[in-house]
Amino acid sequence: MQAVRRLNEDISWVGVDDRRLHLFENMFPLPHGVSYNSYIIQDEKTALLDTADGGVLPQFLENVDYVLQGRPVDYMIVHHMEPDHCSGIARILERYPECRMVATQQAFRFFDQFNNTTLPEERKLLVKEGDELCLGAHKLRFILAPMVHWPEVMMSFDQKDGILFSADAFGTFGTLDGCLFDREIDLNASWLTDARRYYTNIVGKYGQQVQAVLKKAAGLPIRLIAPLHGPVWSEDIPMILEKYDLWSSYRPEDPGAVMIAYGSMYGNTKALCEALACRLGEKGLRNIKVYDVSETDKSYLIAEAFRCGYLVFAAPTYNNGLYPKMKELLEDMQSLNIQGRKCTVLGNGTWAPQSEKLMRQMLLEMKEMEVSEKTVVVRSRLSDAQNEELEAVAEDILRRLQA
Ligand SMILES: Cc1cc2nc3c(=O)[nH]c(=O)nc-3n(C[C@H](O)[C@H](O)[C@H](O)COP(=O)(O)O)c2cc1C
Ligand SMILES: [Fe+2]
Ligand SMILES: [Fe+2]
Repeated sequence: MQAVRRLNEDISWVGVDDRRLHLFENMFPLPHGVSYNSYIIQDEKTALLDTADGGVLPQFLENVDYVLQGRPVDYMIVHHMEPDHCSGIARILERYPECRMVATQQAFRFFDQFNNTTLPEERKLLVKEGDELCLGAHKLRFILAPMVHWPEVMMSFDQKDGILFSADAFGTFGTLDGCLFDREIDLNASWLTDARRYYTNIVGKYGQQVQAVLKKAAGLPIRLIAPLHGPVWSEDIPMILEKYDLWSSYRPEDPGAVMIAYGSMYGNTKALCEALACRLGEKGLRNIKVYDVSETDKSYLIAEAFRCGYLVFAAPTYNNGLYPKMKELLEDMQSLNIQGRKCTVLGNGTWAPQSEKLMRQMLLEMKEMEVSEKTVVVRSRLSDAQNEELEAVAEDILRRLQA
């Protein structure tokens, strides 16, 4: 049974929702699943834009058959060669012997690598920046988007309908559940959390490259943005473009928001952070989120680090080093290029505390991190004698937030 949607008269969505995959890239939790989007343009020629993940191919192929009603696929357009979109390409090329794959040079190389094959030249249509492909009334212009988030990535722009097929950019986690367009979906806070978590973890490292693509997109008369995951953007294009601009320039969405992330084995570092949060709350701060790095998956903390302007990290010393879960978080932040945040670090250790110094070092290795000199390093737990130090830390955070 097909499960398809129409974008307009000539263009259909033939993607598939996946609720069985628990971890995207075998790493990122998918509490609301994920969709693999694929589109068909039916004109004088037909074009299939990307395919889907191996786990959902039967449904995908059924959707393609239903929409085409016996017509062949003339062009298999490949915007991105990551397997969550590519598992069906070889099947399509096999089924339609006249079909040509349309892609960048690098995408052809990746296709051969993933399939242990050599695609014959006559099956390839190599495209470069600015090239156009005429399907009849629809004409696609190709826009290269290298390293958003793979090197072979390209987008295409349908000049007839003003649709930007944007590859993974503007994608989000979460299934579509029959609702294809943003206007059909309740874009509530939990949905935005999924969108942010998708961008920051999957594409976050490549802010500069995303900025370059946003500049190219700014010149196009875009009416729809059709990504490879999540809803098609229509009404909320200005909102998602603004978010992408913020995320890709590493500016916090909410400069006044504070994330307190702690690691804690026995609860003493946790208690220190709870005490700090209450003091901040008492002083009037309203936008505070406290997270346990062992409880909350790192991908959520990364998304929060992109959102919040002020980051507090607290962790115990562990084998003369930093509590491993906290180390992982800071390493990930570094590799994703998170930068330009105000930070405070708090340490703990029972015999030779090191964690505060180590977290400070790691943060200072990131770009433009402002790490406060004010800190509390506790031995096992916050003692009454250190109450004033904690108070000074709270006041310092407030002052720096207002600066
Ligand atoms: C495996 C292990 C290694 C530790 N290594 C150190 C260490 O090298 N230096 C130190 O001062 N404390 C070390 N500690 C002790 C904890 O850092 C300390 O008890 C801290 O107060 C625990 O904080 P928590 O209550 O938030 O878990 C270690 C604890 C464990 C379980
Ligand atoms: Fe991808
Ligand atoms: Fe993808």
